[in-house]
Amino acid sequence: MDTAINTTFPIEIHKSPVSHISTVDFDQLQFGKVFTDHMFEADYIDGKWTNCTIRPLSTLQLHPATSALHYGQAVFEGMKAFKTTEGKVMLFRPDANFRRLNESCVRMAIPELPEELFMDALFQLVRIDADWIPNTDEGSMYIRPFVFATDDFVGIKPSDTFKFIIFCCPVARYYSKPVRVYMQEQFIRAFPGGTGAVKAAGNYGATMMPLMEARKRGFDQMLWIDGVTHNRLQEIGTMNVFVQIDDTIITIPTTEGTILKGVTRDSCIALLRDGGYKVEERDVTIQELIDAHRSGRLHDAFGTGTAATVAPIGVIGYKDEEYELPPVESRKASAWLKHELWAIRKGIATDRFDWMWEV
Ligand SMILES: Cc1ncc(COP(=O)(O)O)c(C=O)c1O
Repeated sequence: MDTAINTTFPIEIHKSPVSHISTVDFDQLQFGKVFTDHMFEADYIDGKWTNCTIRPLSTLQLHPATSALHYGQAVFEGMKAFKTTEGKVMLFRPDANFRRLNESCVRMAIPELPEELFMDALFQLVRIDADWIPNTDEGSMYIRPFVFATDDFVGIKPSDTFKFIIFCCPVARYYSKPVRVYMQEQFIRAFPGGTGAVKAAGNYGATMMPLMEARKRGFDQMLWIDGVTHNRLQEIGTMNVFVQIDDTIITIPTTEGTILKGVTRDSCIALLRDGGYKVEERDVTIQELIDAHRSGRLHDAFGTGTAATVAPIGVIGYKDEEYELPPVESRKASAWLKHELWAIRKGIATDRFDWMWEV
């Protein structure tokens, strides 16, 4: 066992005697299927976070009545570590993910995580598994912190005990082709007053059935429509959506509480404005989108998210129509944005917004 580093939440470190990194083909990484050697784990018991440990990644033993499995008190985050061209290990905006995780916790009646615990756990784990961060152009390490209720109790009440875990996956590019998204008004992802603005596990469970339907029709993801008017764009499966109509880049406001406040979304708005693009946060209706497409004014559309970064949309499906977007090579905004983000993360462009944290 290595020594505990910080004082308030000492972390016991048990390193894996052997690494399985040599068994991994880094040229064929499938997103979310390869895991690094270690994980972080802590328990919330008697009102305190305790048992903080980094240990070899392994399965969990859970009671069949574990309340998260039945009543869904579970929240998560998705963030990334990068290696710069000089080999420095950097995290992208971990403070933003920390804040959002706690917003999710508050909404789901889960105790908030102390910042010291979250950051120490994250930095130590990333340091220990830093060799797993691909050095390639589009490679990175996806990091999954999550918290879930562990009371073994049958009955609806907030759990008294929780687990906080972090594990990591080396990843490559998420989409190799422009994304085909599908819009429909029947199934709704989130409502005002619901949990759409946080990363509650159940939000995603409820999207699987409509997604399966969309996949049968040949689409990759849903482009969700709002549940109040049934005609406004919301967001894509795990991405916020941007469209360029004429020379304005528009993204959907997050004020209604139905859309996740993407860290990439926020970063893209800042970059675009800094780069002289005109950006508006306002609603876009299905009709406005279709009209813009028909009149040749829809020049670009893309999703933004940690996993996919900036993903151009190739086709938008609605009813029995497919609205095809201009070829990716002709699109300026999404290509420029993707390059800018990449250059900051790789340490090639100046980190002018102080987004990168060295590990
Ligand atoms: C529903 C949803 N919207 C948007 C995003 C994009 O957020 P971020 O850029 O923070 O990854 C995600 C991914 O976390 C998501 O799950």
